[in-house]
Amino acid sequence: MADVGVQTLLGKVDGLLARYRDHARMMWAVAPGWSTVSLLGTLVGAGALVLSMVATGQLIGALYEVLAHRADSQRAWWWFAAFVLAAVLGQLQQAVLAMANPRIWSPYRVMINDLLAETGMHSRSLAVLDGATAGELENLIKTSRQWLFRFGMTGIWQLLQTRLVGLGAVLVLVGWRWWAPLVVAAAFLLSSRLFSTWLDSVLDGMWGSTPPIERQRADYVAKVMASSGAAKEVRIFGLVDWLAERYRVLWHVAAAQFWHQLNRKLAPTFLGGLALLVVLGGTLSLLGWDAYRGMVNSSAVITYVLALLALNAFGMQGDQQAGLVQVGRLLNDLRTLRGRLDLPSLTPAEGEPIRGTPVPDAGIKFEGVTFTYPTRTVPTLSGLTLHVPAGQSIAIVGVNGAGKSTMIKLLAGLYQADSGSVTVGGRDAFADPALDRAVAVIFQDFIHYPLSLRDNVGFGALERRSDTELLERAMTDAAGRDVLASLDHAWDSVLSSEYEDGTELSGGQWQRIALARALAAVGAGAQILVLDEPTAALDVRAEAELFERFLSVTKGVTTVLVSHRLATVRRADRIVVLDGDTGKVTEDGTHDELLAQGGAYATMFRLQARRFAQAGDPDEGSD
Ligand SMILES: Nc1ncnc2c1ncn2[C@@H]1O[C@H](COP(=O)(O)OP(=O)(O)O)[C@@H](O)[C@H]1O
Ligand SMILES: [Mg+2]
Repeated sequence: MADVGVQTLLGKVDGLLARYRDHARMMWAVAPGWSTVSLLGTLVGAGALVLSMVATGQLIGALYEVLAHRADSQRAWWWFAAFVLAAVLGQLQQAVLAMANPRIWSPYRVMINDLLAETGMHSRSLAVLDGATAGELENLIKTSRQWLFRFGMTGIWQLLQTRLVGLGAVLVLVGWRWWAPLVVAAAFLLSSRLFSTWLDSVLDGMWGSTPPIERQRADYVAKVMASSGAAKEVRIFGLVDWLAERYRVLWHVAAAQFWHQLNRKLAPTFLGGLALLVVLGGTLSLLGWDAYRGMVNSSAVITYVLALLALNAFGMQGDQQAGLVQVGRLLNDLRTLRGRLDLPSLTPAEGEPIRGTPVPDAGIKFEGVTFTYPTRTVPTLSGLTLHVPAGQSIAIVGVNGAGKSTMIKLLAGLYQADSGSVTVGGRDAFADPALDRAVAVIFQDFIHYPLSLRDNVGFGALERRSDTELLERAMTDAAGRDVLASLDHAWDSVLSSEYEDGTELSGGQWQRIALARALAAVGAGAQILVLDEPTAALDVRAEAELFERFLSVTKGVTTVLVSHRLATVRRADRIVVLDGDTGKVTEDGTHDELLAQGGAYATMFRLQARRFAQAGDPDEGSD
């Protein structure tokens, strides 16, 4: 008969293991040694607690006998020794866990970070991050940073120990009435199951991977209220109260939606608690009755009471369990997401990092290229054809939204064309790993890394970040020597005032650093250099000067300049105009040729030139 109980419990253990199988595998993968130590410690700790349960009852019983002069003290001493042993082992186990835990969760965290990073970055294609995937990934990253998650990573030992003690308590109680531990454990189980279902729906509703849109908006508003980036506008336009009110309303709407559901689900949880009280109360009363009738001696009564209470092990275990649930859930979501992206489930993908090899001839060919963003239906480029011979400098001009940046993304292999081909030196720009690092691009929204100047420039040529000579040359060519000179710690200066001793730079200074990054890439072997309006914040004259300087320092490198200011690109070997609607090349030639043609370029150029003239200085002005 006891078999049935054991079966139920084994089933429960197996269910628990299934839920945390990924978690167990991860722990084993990141810290096999410390996981083994923790597991052994946990087994010993659980044994010690069961022993102390029995020893407490026996010790008290033996003392009673001694006091009643019915026995000598030898038995009491033995049980006292057992009790002390149990206490010492318990302490030892706590010490072992305290030592092991950080040695597990720290590499675990690194592993999770690696997996998350790989999930977002594994593909050269940006298409992966268009649409919902980026949001899902961001939620996973947020979850992985939470306190509860960190707690959950090592919570399994404490939980396992509690469950094992519960199992021990069942075995102890079988000696009294075999069904009693089963009924009480079942009551604990039921009430905890009901409670955790309720808790899951709380977590899901408010903090799950798809929280209500109002909550997401509320989060955003909260972020704006506290961000230093928005501080200027928030003050100037007096947005503080409005934002606070907005936050209150959004949060209210989000919470109201689901408090309602939650309240309804709360009733079964209450009933479960009530059932537990009745069962536990009944069982204790029965034990009292048995003791009163002399069927159970006093030692056993104490042990049984302790064991009955220890059956609580089958109930909810608070934060440990909640943390574990969160870990299990994150691993599950991450596995699903990675599966969708064809990545190995929870191990980093194998394989050497791909190294690019130089192409013999860095000419660029767009051949009948049509491209539609994954989130759109209308093509941004349709039937674009453009050949750029190696070593040529070409400027691409066109109205905002014409598709200039899109073209560059295709050239850099960040998206795949729907049809037609994009090749560099005859190699497929999207598919050929040999082109890795062949194209250096600085986009308008280049990143201001809050790291050292060396990193900010050196990221253009990662392997040669310590090659100061290369970096200095890049900085000089990017007209950034004065930026370097103005920094207190030269190449080691941190470029963010959010860090101690960090420096904040102006927009123009940042642009020079970005240009230096691109030039460092060229210095390290990139054969195509693209500047996609990274200088838009400079005035026209400064942009023109920079472009000119660029064209002279990058002689021999295939150079693509993108700008919507015609005056700044006139020195390029060749200029092409991209049509705003189809993203096709409509005009193609040198500055003088295009002016002579009298087409859109000529019209735009005259218009811009006239505006500068009206501003008083033909070279001054913005667009
Ligand atoms: N990631 C994207 N997803 C969807 N549409 C995009 C994306 N990036 C750009 N677009 C759209 O593609 C068109 C061309 O944009 P872009 O190439 O940036 O133009 P340009 O650089 O010439 O100003 C625009 O209509 C823009 O809104
Ligand atoms: Mg653009």
